Amino acid sequence: MKLGVCWYPEQWPEPLWASDVQRMAALGLSFVRIGEFAWSRIEPEPGQFDWDWLDRAVDLSHAAGLEVVMGTPTATPPKWLVDAHPEILAKGRDGQVRGFGSRRHYCFSSDVYLEQAKRITALMADRYGRHPAVVAWQTDNEYGCHDTVVSTSDAAKAAFRRWLAARYGNVAALNTAWGLAFWSQEYRSFDEVDAPFGTVTESHPAHRLDWQRFSSAMVERFNAAQVEILRAASPGRDIVHNFMGLFTEFDHYAVGRQLDVATWDSYPIGFLGQGPFSAADKARYLRTGHPDLTAFHHSLYRACGQGRWWVIEQQPGPVNWAAWNPAPAKGAVELWGWEAVAFGAERMSWFRWRQAPTGQEAMHAGLNRPDNQPAAAWPEVKALAAGLAALGPLPERGRSDVALVFDYDSVWAVQSQPQGRDQDALATAMTWHTAARRLGLSVDIVASDADFSGYALVLLPGQIVLDAALAQRLAQSGATVLAGPRTGSKTRDFAIPATLPPDGLQALIDVTVARVESLPPGIVLAAGNGGQVTGWMEDVEASAAVETRLALDDGRGLWFAHDKAHYLAGHTDDGLLRRILIDVAVAAGLHPRDLGPDVRIERRGALHFLFNYGPQAVAIEERVVIGSKLVPPAGVAIWKDEAP
Ligand code: GAL
Repeated sequence: MKLGVCWYPEQWPEPLWASDVQRMAALGLSFVRIGEFAWSRIEPEPGQFDWDWLDRAVDLSHAAGLEVVMGTPTATPPKWLVDAHPEILAKGRDGQVRGFGSRRHYCFSSDVYLEQAKRITALMADRYGRHPAVVAWQTDNEYGCHDTVVSTSDAAKAAFRRWLAARYGNVAALNTAWGLAFWSQEYRSFDEVDAPFGTVTESHPAHRLDWQRFSSAMVERFNAAQVEILRAASPGRDIVHNFMGLFTEFDHYAVGRQLDVATWDSYPIGFLGQGPFSAADKARYLRTGHPDLTAFHHSLYRACGQGRWWVIEQQPGPVNWAAWNPAPAKGAVELWGWEAVAFGAERMSWFRWRQAPTGQEAMHAGLNRPDNQPAAAWPEVKALAAGLAALGPLPERGRSDVALVFDYDSVWAVQSQPQGRDQDALATAMTWHTAARRLGLSVDIVASDADFSGYALVLLPGQIVLDAALAQRLAQSGATVLAGPRTGSKTRDFAIPATLPPDGLQALIDVTVARVESLPPGIVLAAGNGGQVTGWMEDVEASAAVETRLALDDGRGLWFAHDKAHYLAGHTDDGLLRRILIDVAVAAGLHPRDLGPDVRIERRGALHFLFNYGPQAVAIEERVVIGSKLVPPAGVAIWKDEAP
């Protein structure tokens, strides 16, 4: 795995640059990511270019032996461009223009902006596309950051109407698919359809779902345009984009298919406060991040990149953008690095080389302090680089035993009609992922169109649309299947299935969801085995065996099983979910064992990695090659399979 850093030479006096790149190389770094916000320096006036400084920065990097990942600067259209074309600006759900003065102010649906983005991309690709230092391109920066996927500009509304026409053919088909006879919502033409915001009460859920699908398609369109230019002008270079954590506003699998590599920006502590975790967990993991959050995204983006993925931004210290910004525990920066190694990242780079003294991110740590002295992360970066060198060539990561299906459309479906205020498909998927990892199971996150062959166990925490093809792939895989509540609960057009949920899955197990209820926080239904159901519970009619019921007089079935298929009809507490998962995993031929809340183990070929996210040291017996037998808090131990 190559280590690198995000470098912003345009923000620093040029006399610093030469020592910057030399110190990077001396630290063990081998690449820089540059350029992704530099439009106003590249094209200070319309049509007037200043490439010299960037030429020098790229050449200096090259001379120091550093590879370059070049970003296209389209996340930050400069002031002159915005003033000349104010129509490129996005509008919020409230119809307000999102103005100049930060970043990501453009609207994905704007054809005017798309042409500008193509223009600057083509110019950069022509200039640097064949430079020997340039090994990869990053398109734009963090599509959707700061809530920027959805725009209600005129361009977006027009594009939505075209998207609807392409999807439904004629407006009568739209009226039927959405069921618009309800409340006299029928349209006479696609031109009458607006954005689904600003209505008196909730807007039509199918309208909202399709708006999100459309908005996602606009991100795909925008990215595809840059990819096409870069492919032509910069042969042999990887094209990447940097995805975010806890972010589901567009279909990352679809964008990922356009790329060579999926990368993501990993801020374990920044994300902790935003994640679906208990207050106790937020306190316990304050300085390390949650034990499974980073792993979840490593797995997810590995799937989005069809096996190829990087961490392009890694947290080096306190960030600036969370509600509170604690410092990492001693060791955490190195631990996050080893975690990326364990999951098979090809590259990892820290954000950023040096903390900036000015601007929105002046409080964000870098590998260097603003005075250019090494910051706290420095020795940990050094240790990681030395450890990697000591380990030598790394084995393949390989396929995990468990596949967990995660699907963006399901997230939007639940958002479009939650039926319980706190329903959240991402949170549910993360809860199941945590349950499996705590049991020592290795988990791949996969798309709903994945090939499941080779997996012992497939988890479907909440696959809202489950069509016959998916059901068939599940059945043919021979895997044991555990599906959660709301699985197969809607058709693609967002209707309740004719035979009631779980649509599709009924081919594998005879269960019918006759009624659902959602429950406010604090309401607990006691289940068998001393477990609890909270938030969501279904009434299921079934010929399948009932493995667990709600306790006492209620007696509703909770866990149903038939052959290799299992259906769970409610959201359970973590302990009960684990107990069910243990039985299902054992039935699938796996060997689950509870590692407790803090310790996680991953395997990469013959290498085993133990991560201690907890506050206490952990003693192990293995003969470690990295770390020690007493693994400290925020510590890592690595051992190898003994040769046979
Ligand atoms: C990322 C972004 C970077 C920087 C960083 C700060 O979301 O891509 O440009 O803002 O966060 O943590």
